[in-house]
Order: sequence, then C-alpha cells, then structure tokens
Amino acid sequence: MKRIFMVGYMGAGKTTAGKELAKCFDYSFYDLDHFIETRFNKTIVEIFEQYGEDKFREIEREMLMELGLLEDVIISTGGGTPCHFDNMDFMLQNGIVVYLEASPSSLLQRLNKNKHKRPLIKDKDEEEMLRFISDNLEKRNRFYNKSTLIYNTDSFVTKGEMIVNLHNIAEQIKKTIHTK
Ligand code: S3P
Repeated sequence: MKRIFMVGYMGAGKTTAGKELAKCFDYSFYDLDHFIETRFNKTIVEIFEQYGEDKFREIEREMLMELGLLEDVIISTGGGTPCHFDNMDFMLQNGIVVYLEASPSSLLQRLNKNKHKRPLIKDKDEEEMLRFISDNLEKRNRFYNKSTLIYNTDSFVTKGEMIVNLHNIAEQIKKTIHTK
C-alpha cells in the first residue's frame, strides 16, 4: 500500500502529523488544501467566497483523485474531504486512512488562533464555534470512523507534543501496512 491519507476535523493536526510521518516513511507529503490553492492561485477562503462551497467540494474531489494516483505519498486532506461524494471509499480503496480524532473542546482550543483561514468558522465567536464543531463533528464522525486507523490526539496540546508522539502512530501504520 503506497499511500497514506490523513483525515480528521479542522485543527486535528493532519498537516503537522502528515509532514512528520512523511519523514518516517520517506514518502512525499501533500496537503490537499495547499495543492488546491496553488493550482487555482487563490486561498481556500477566496475559493469559497467566489465559487461557493459546492464548487469547492467538486474541485476538492478532482484534486483528491489526482493526488490519489501518486505513489509513496502522505496526503493530508481537508476536514470535509471524507464526507463528500464517495471520497472516503476512494481513499480506503487506494491507501491507508488515518483518522486523527479530537474532542470539540480540544479542536476549539487549537482553532481559536487561526480560524481566519477557515471559511466555515471564520466569522463565528467562541460559543458559536463550539456549537458548530460539536454538531458538525457528530455528522462527520460516521465518515471519519470508517478509517483504517483511529488515533486520539486530545492529550497533545502543542504541535511539539504531537510530533513527539508520532512514532506511536507510525508504528501502528507500519503494522497495518504489513497486514494489508
Ligand atoms: C474544511 C476544512 C479545511 C478546508 C476548508 C473546509 C471543512 O481544511 O478544506 O476550509 O469542511 O472542514 P482543514 O481541515 O485543513 O482546516
């Protein structure tokens, strides 16, 4: 199996973890949102504002299909990627899917600092954000929970703590690769 897809809610640490895991596996790292921004020469916020969410989801799917053909890669997806079209089934068929799970309160803490990059929450205050995250996560969990591996990240407050613990995730992924 030559592809690892990182999934999870906004703020779960998919990009931080993906970059570090790519080093462990000697794979190339791709961030789906970044790939989209580079291709369209627009930020995700601009794409949402100019084309709307439905069009963003179509673009996201198309770019996922493109990246999903590469080998020896770790792809960090957007929080909504597994929850639209048959994206989750595509990822499961083409690689190992790792869900970085976190509770709404941990996500809120991590998202407070950089919500401006995220169109779905950028205009919400803290209380609205917590309600949105809780409701949205409940809907999305049925997709996330189909993942090959689920890793809870609530105990990692900083990026550094996440990175230190990544060898555990890497070991679990290696075992999964060998049994596939
Ligand atoms: C989204 C998550 C974002 C980005 C877009 C929509 C979502 O990615 O794709 O803002 O629907 O949860 P991150 O999870 O990397 O923030």
